[in-house]
Amino acid sequence: MKFPEGFKFGVASSSAQTEGCGFEGGRGLSIWDVFAEKPNAIRGGFKPSQAACESYRMFDTDLKNLIGLGVNSYRMSIAWERVLPEGTGALNQKGTDYYKRCFDKLLEAGIAPNVTLYHWDLPQKLEEKGGWLSRDSKRWFQEYADKMFRLYGDIIPNWVTLNEPISVFCGYGLGFFAPGYTNKAWGNQARHNVMTASGAAVEAYRASGHKGEIGVVVDIWKRIPMTNTPEDIALARDEDEENWKFYTDRLLGGGYSDYILDKFEKEGTLMQMEDEDFRLTNLPIDFYGMNYYNTVPVSTKKENIVGANQGGNFAEDRKVSNPEGLYDVLHMIRDMYKLKIPIYISENGYGHDGPETVNAADGMVHDDYRIEYLSKALEAVEKLIADGVDIRGYYLWTLMDNWEWSAGHDVKYGLLHTDFETYERTWKKSAYWYRDFIAQSR
Ligand code: FCB
Repeated sequence: MKFPEGFKFGVASSSAQTEGCGFEGGRGLSIWDVFAEKPNAIRGGFKPSQAACESYRMFDTDLKNLIGLGVNSYRMSIAWERVLPEGTGALNQKGTDYYKRCFDKLLEAGIAPNVTLYHWDLPQKLEEKGGWLSRDSKRWFQEYADKMFRLYGDIIPNWVTLNEPISVFCGYGLGFFAPGYTNKAWGNQARHNVMTASGAAVEAYRASGHKGEIGVVVDIWKRIPMTNTPEDIALARDEDEENWKFYTDRLLGGGYSDYILDKFEKEGTLMQMEDEDFRLTNLPIDFYGMNYYNTVPVSTKKENIVGANQGGNFAEDRKVSNPEGLYDVLHMIRDMYKLKIPIYISENGYGHDGPETVNAADGMVHDDYRIEYLSKALEAVEKLIADGVDIRGYYLWTLMDNWEWSAGHDVKYGLLHTDFETYERTWKKSAYWYRDFIAQSR
């Protein structure tokens, strides 16, 4: 199918997962640098400073690969702790120059930067002041956002305030992401505050007068009850409310559901909230970014769960089985909130848990499973466009195998294979496939 004129075919990445190069260029510590030092926090003990892709010095190589793929947009994030090592206050010139150069080079190549302000790497200095638990966090984030808009607002067409705010709940409430706390009341407060901060960044963007787009990325992991029993239906409902509706209700629906407020009240985990918080998140945004990887089968009885898996970062087995689900899930969100704003598929991809080796005979990784997943997901995007859904772009996660948070190096999502000894990038079969798909779709 030919995609609409101007449709963005991209790949997505994030600073903590790709930049590496230690603390070169004056990068400050992030909560993930500190978390990675804890025993067993990261599979294999890999640290983001040492075990990402060295893109801080290899950006030109990445650019060459992006050009080779034929993408017209690159979703990347700014490391808050690189540009503001203290979190607030003085900018680090080497850090801001680095991003300026990346953005200029991308634009020269006809690749639109789509820039995320917060992809999970909170400056450690701010964590020491309470991190996302602090009500000051919205002011810190607004200051940072405002500084970025002043520096780059005239050249960046698309901004994302937050990537997947659930990561903050995983960090403060569940403990498997940085900073590693396991207190549900904290998790709830932190996720409430990060949403407020997102609104504060939107406010700063409007005040800056720039005319690009600003939006928010929320990942959807729709639960599918495995039986029609009231128990399974109730469980699916509860997990939907906790895992994604919390964020979409606030962002796209104006506030939290009675279900979630009652539940937190009963648990004694209800967050402190002020009207101002909702005023900020109710400021209009220009697009909604959906990250979609999979749906999640649920049942109170384990034996009912067939092909149990969640995908992304959250799975135990990290397998993905339902690329087609993207179609129904996107329709569901549009209907649920009567969405009128444009939509981006801001992440979608296939994680392979285990090694992928470069075939000596043809120098390629034969990742046919990834191609199968991607072709089904992109078919779903085609169907949505044919239905008249206003999807403006598709970003494949990710350009190259990188540092996959708590999964370390175990899970591979790249179109390109990364050799973590030499940092050499090698095109997998799926990279050629995506290149050809893009070429045929224009
Ligand atoms: C998403 C994250 C991204 C990456 C993929 C696999 O949840 O946004 O950084 O880890 O999962």
